[in-house]
Amino acid sequence: MEPSNPIVPQVGAGKRMCIVGASGKLGRYMVQHALERGYEVVGVCREKSVPKLADYADRITVLGGYTNDREVIAKAVEGCDAVLTVLAPWGVDDYASGTAKAVIDHARPEARLIFSCGWHITRDGKDVYSRKIKAAVVLARLLRITRLVDLNDQYRATDLIFDSGTRWTVVRGSDLEEGPSEGLPVWARHVGDPVLASNMTRRTDFALFMVEAVTDDTLVQEAPAIVGRLTPSALAHASEAA
Ligand SMILES: NC(=O)c1ccc[n+]([C@@H]2O[C@H](COP(=O)([O-])OP(=O)(O)OC[C@H]3O[C@@H](n4cnc5c(N)ncnc54)[C@H](OP(=O)(O)O)[C@@H]3O)[C@@H](O)[C@H]2O)c1
Repeated sequence: MEPSNPIVPQVGAGKRMCIVGASGKLGRYMVQHALERGYEVVGVCREKSVPKLADYADRITVLGGYTNDREVIAKAVEGCDAVLTVLAPWGVDDYASGTAKAVIDHARPEARLIFSCGWHITRDGKDVYSRKIKAAVVLARLLRITRLVDLNDQYRATDLIFDSGTRWTVVRGSDLEEGPSEGLPVWARHVGDPVLASNMTRRTDFALFMVEAVTDDTLVQEAPAIVGRLTPSALAHASEAA
């Protein structure tokens, strides 16, 4: 297959990547970045969302099914060098943790596993949150009463990942906005680091970070909190470093 964008280094040539949650906003950006890098892509999304990937129909393999369906995931991750998973806390049936567990259990032991979530996830409890973020988390947790979302399940999912011993990276996104790429986001190990203060990343760049993490071994077993590289806080940090 011809590379979609031959200017981008073809680091994915000969490699297979599975994108779990491929039909969402983040997922479709990940598909695009992966194809540009020459990966063979297998996408998983709900049956009803398969048409959202119509633009890529002749370039990727799509498996329709719920992302916590272990049979679907087992088939999708077969032979994959990397699995990128959108972790979303939908419903009250352990959707996020079921998805994470299926990926961990079925991916090849040496595969790179990259998961998405937000800054609210903490690995070691050393993140320092603003009052605004704390209030948003309390509100999101209360939404469980609607039975539409269960934020606690996303915490359970990431705890499973942290304890898994696999080659994982949990990418923690700031608030997101649409717009053209600003390049690879910068990251810090803990929320509260001044470099992150602007709390904004282009969604396409969140996806770029997920895809680039596959080939960055310094991110293995890290939970980077990311922010756009052209945001005021990232630029201030860059000039200080210079
Ligand atoms: N939104 C933000 O501001 C923000 C901020 C920081 C981090 N994040 C993280 O970024 C990632 C992507 O989030 P996003 O907000 O940008 O949305 P998104 O990319 O559109 O992803 C939402 C995903 O959930 C699926 N989904 C939607 N409704 C569902 C349902 N009822 N049951 C099962 N699956 C359902 C979507 O699949 P379909 O295509 O099938 O609908 C899609 O794969 C998440 O990991 C999130 O935690 C988001």
